Amino acid sequence: MAIIDDITALHKETLERIGAIGDSKELEAIRVEVVGKAGSLTGYLRSMGQVAKEHRAQIGKSVNLARNEIEAALEAKKAELSAREMEARIAASAVDVTLPGRSQQVGTRHLINAISDEISELFLGLGYTVLTGPEVETDWYNFTALNAPEDHPSRGLADTFYVKDNTGAETAVKGESAVLLRTQTSGVQVHAMEDRELPIYIIAPGKVYRRDVADPSHLPQFHQCEGLVIDKNITFGDLKGTLDYFCKQIFGPERKTRFRAHYFPFTEPSAEADVSCGVCGGTGHLHDGEKCRMCKGTGWIEILGCGMVDPNVLEMSGIDPEEYSGFAFGVGIERVACLKYNVPDLRMLLEGDMRFLRQF
Ligand code: DAH
Repeated sequence: MAIIDDITALHKETLERIGAIGDSKELEAIRVEVVGKAGSLTGYLRSMGQVAKEHRAQIGKSVNLARNEIEAALEAKKAELSAREMEARIAASAVDVTLPGRSQQVGTRHLINAISDEISELFLGLGYTVLTGPEVETDWYNFTALNAPEDHPSRGLADTFYVKDNTGAETAVKGESAVLLRTQTSGVQVHAMEDRELPIYIIAPGKVYRRDVADPSHLPQFHQCEGLVIDKNITFGDLKGTLDYFCKQIFGPERKTRFRAHYFPFTEPSAEADVSCGVCGGTGHLHDGEKCRMCKGTGWIEILGCGMVDPNVLEMSGIDPEEYSGFAFGVGIERVACLKYNVPDLRMLLEGDMRFLRQF
C-alpha cells in the first residue's frame, strides 16, 4: 500500500534527520514539522476519514509506531543536546579558581588626619573639648582680638591671603572689616572665649593658610592645633606639665622638653617649646661623632609656640584677668607628623604617593 510506504519513508527519514541534528532549535523545528498539530505525520491521522475502512487499522498502527519512535528519538536528542549546551555554557563562563584573587584596596586615614586625631584623643583624655573654627576669618579674630599690633608683619599682604581688604565695609565685624584666610588657629581662642562658659579647656585642630611658597619646611596651606585653658589659678607650671605630657605621649616617654623665652602678641610670657631630638637622643651627635643633621647638632627640635594668655586678650573677650588666668599653645600638625616619622620634606605629605602614604 502506497500510503504505508509513505509513512514508513517519513518515519525513517525523520529518525535520520533527528540523528544528524546538533542544535535544539532545529530539533524543535522538526518536531513541529512532523508530529506537531499541523505536522506531516499528524496529517495522516487527520485524513483517516478518506481512507477505506479495512485499511484504517493498518495505517493507524504505522502512524502510531512512527509517532512513538519519533517522539522517543526527539526526547533522547533533546536531553543529549541540553546536556551538551549546558557544558558549553559552563566552559564559556568558567572561573579559573587557581588565579590569585584581586583584593579590594582598603583606604586609611591620611597621616595628617591620623596625627590630628591622635592629638585630639590625647587632650580628650585630659578632659578638653575639641572645637573647630572658620577658615575664612575676619581681621578681628585672626589678629586684633589676639593683641596683634596694627603694624605686625604677619598682617601684611605678603604673608596673609586676603579675601577682602579693609575697605570691604559690608563685612565689618566689631569695627574690623578685612576678611582673610586664617593664618593661625589662634582665632578659635577668641571664639571659644566669646561662646563658652568658664572655665575653658579646649583644643582646635584645623587648616591655616600663609603666602609661602612650598619648600621642605613650608606649605601655603597646613594644619595647626590650638590649645586654650582658662581657669582660676592657672600657672606656667600647668602649661609646662601639660605640654611635657603631650610631647611624651606623641613622641615617646624618653623625650625631654625645654621652654625658651619667645614673643607672641597674645601671650605673656611667651615661649617656644623644644623636644629632645629623637635621632641623636638629644646629644647633638651620632655614634660616629658626626653632627646630627636632624637637630643641627643642638640636641633639640622646636615643636610649638605657647605662653600665658595676655591679660589684654582676656579683657578684649570680656574675661577679668584679675580673676582668671590661662595658657595657650599652637602646634603644627605636619611638623609633628614629620618629626615623629623622620619625614624630610613637608611636601611629601601632599603628593599623594601611595608608596609613601601606605607606610603609616
Ligand atoms: N599662632 C602661633 C603661630 O602660628 C602659634 C602659637 C604660639 C599659638 C603661642 C599659641 C601660643 O596659642 O600661645 O605661630
